[in-house]
Amino acid sequence: MRGVRINYLIEHPEYVPNLAQWLFEQWDFILGEKNPETRMEELRAQMNRDELPIAWVAHGNGQLFGTAALRVDGPEGCEELTPWLSRVIVGPHFRRRGIGAALCAHVEAEARSREIQTLYLFTLDKQAWFSRMGWTIFGPCLWHERPGDIMCKQLRTA
Ligand SMILES: CC(C)(COP(=O)(O)OP(=O)(O)OC[C@H]1O[C@@H](n2cnc3c(N)ncnc32)[C@H](O)[C@@H]1OP(=O)(O)O)[C@@H](O)C(=O)NCCC(=O)NCCS
Repeated sequence: MRGVRINYLIEHPEYVPNLAQWLFEQWDFILGEKNPETRMEELRAQMNRDELPIAWVAHGNGQLFGTAALRVDGPEGCEELTPWLSRVIVGPHFRRRGIGAALCAHVEAEARSREIQTLYLFTLDKQAWFSRMGWTIFGPCLWHERPGDIMCKQLRTA
């Protein structure tokens, strides 16, 4: 999509409250949080460039479109797998324009540049969407007692 830029969240702290609200609304039915404060704390912890966790934002002309992050930890019980593409979200009004795919591709490229060879993610219901971007099912997994799948992607580093 034209006019979309992807930058480190640390370069755009002004988007943290809006992002926290989107993340809160998207997953509150599972996490059961009373307000977006925990999501704000998580985003602040992802305001890094050189060490994980790292979050990126998609934006343009002062408008926030979405976010994605790279982090060490996945769902509980999966400690042997790392790192993880996580918290991929595009604002409800900006979906189906390729922004989600662009965010995923950006995080993959950033992972590749850090010589990461395999990336993992957990999804409740977006298996088909990630499959189209080259991800494959690694195996089933529970997240807060909800069934989903771990997916993985080999990154060529050469
Ligand atoms: C999943 C999510 C991040 C996808 O973001 P998005 O920006 O809509 O993704 P894309 O636009 O790249 O792709 C979505 C669809 O739009 C289509 N699309 C892409 N560009 C398009 C365009 N210019 N015009 C029309 N459709 C387009 C894609 O082919 C894809 O089709 P599909 O639904 O058949 O797979 C978004 O729906 C979202 O935030 N969902 C809620 C949070 C979530 O579930 N995150 C995933 C966690 S595992």
